[in-house]
Amino acid sequence: MTAISLFTSGGLGDLAIRAAGFDILVSNEQLEDRHAVFKFNFPKTHAITGDIWEVVDQVQRDACERLNGVDLKLFYATPPCQGMSKNGQGKLLNAIRAGRKPPHDDRNRLIVPTMDLACRLRPEIVLLENVPQMADTPIVDDDGSMVQIVDFIRTQLGSEYVGRAEVVEFADYGVPQCRQRLITVFSRNPNLIDWFTDCGTFMPPPTHTRDGQNGTARWVTVRDTIEGLPCLDARSSETAVSNVPFHRVPLLDSMKHWWVKNTPQEHSAFDNQCVSCGFQGNQTHSAGRDRHGINRASRETPLYCQKCGSMLPRPSVDRGGKRDLMRGYTSAYKRMSFDKPASALTRNLSYACSDNKLHPEQNRVLSLCEAFRIHTLDQYDYEWQRSDNKRVSDKTIREVIGESIPPAGLQVIVDHLVGIYRGEISQTAMVGPLFASQV
Ligand SMILES: C[S@@+](CC[C@H](N)C(=O)[O-])C[C@H]1O[C@@H](n2cnc3c(N)ncnc32)[C@H](O)[C@@H]1O
Repeated sequence: MTAISLFTSGGLGDLAIRAAGFDILVSNEQLEDRHAVFKFNFPKTHAITGDIWEVVDQVQRDACERLNGVDLKLFYATPPCQGMSKNGQGKLLNAIRAGRKPPHDDRNRLIVPTMDLACRLRPEIVLLENVPQMADTPIVDDDGSMVQIVDFIRTQLGSEYVGRAEVVEFADYGVPQCRQRLITVFSRNPNLIDWFTDCGTFMPPPTHTRDGQNGTARWVTVRDTIEGLPCLDARSSETAVSNVPFHRVPLLDSMKHWWVKNTPQEHSAFDNQCVSCGFQGNQTHSAGRDRHGINRASRETPLYCQKCGSMLPRPSVDRGGKRDLMRGYTSAYKRMSFDKPASALTRNLSYACSDNKLHPEQNRVLSLCEAFRIHTLDQYDYEWQRSDNKRVSDKTIREVIGESIPPAGLQVIVDHLVGIYRGEISQTAMVGPLFASQV
């Protein structure tokens, strides 16, 4: 079965596509450092590095050459989400209000060349992955009118295709990470059309649920995934490394280490209590919406014990000899739970100050080795190496992971599509709890 992959990055999603039985004929990615990692891991794919707006004709030509008159089966595209990511919405709103950014981010318009190519290649299945916000994101189409992205996709493909966009929770497919994504599938294949007409969805039922109900397994937890690796501590260069590849963490200075050391599991260092007198009733940190609807952290949270006056082990900064509480949210300097899936891994996964990044018990962030497991990469044959033999930086690794979905979750979806395509899955076997939401 043939596929092409757009916005390929290091090809983590492509691991699922390949494992489901597809030959990825052509890939496109703008950034050489990411694409070089893909090329090392997918040496048979014809990799075109460059801006999709500029190489769209080349991608079409090279794909057609390789298809040699046979229909393309799968068109897989994951246009970037910075323009619509939930994490950046507050900042984005501010920037738009201040006139520093146009109201309609050009990065959201990458769906235009994407759908142009899909229409030229007429694949049997179109599979797109993006953040859930994509469902509500309007773009300016070629006529200058505003359309919702999902309506744009539907209109471009035309009535030959059926499908929809659905929000999927990846923990529901056995991934030890809560990560919601908008998965959009359209198809013109007769088996898939029949299936969609009867079921109204292309998504498989969850294999896992929070409590393991209705015949599903329980969500896979951080403990299930990383327990047993050597203990690390970010206080010194001797304790922050191990013999296990990529199982090492960045150091924390003594102040940060003190905040982290005193942070209980599932809590933020911003809520830490007094370690001098033991008072546990100091006001905890909070946040609320301002008059523009932007989430703001409280400025009232104390840094000094409300009983004995000692400094609390809470994140603080030195302002001319006086320490003030650091600006930040309750999700910053926060320990994850051992007994739940991790929160979504982001490109900031090695920064203690970012959201939910602290190890459940040890005084540190996750190691890259742990991140690989939580992202299910340990289930695939994948090397952090480049086709040009240059070193892959930790920064690139974090970016590639933070911008991709865990392949094992995607594979459940793609295996399901392949099963329907081949007529191997019966609809009666598909009864089960349904999905987070449907668009
Ligand atoms: C969401 S990430 C893709 C994740 C990838 N599919 C994976 O599974 O790892 C989006 C990618 O699109 C790339 N990109 C952004 N703008 C682009 C453009 N104009 N042309 C081609 N690639 C672009 C980014 O560099 C980024 O690597």
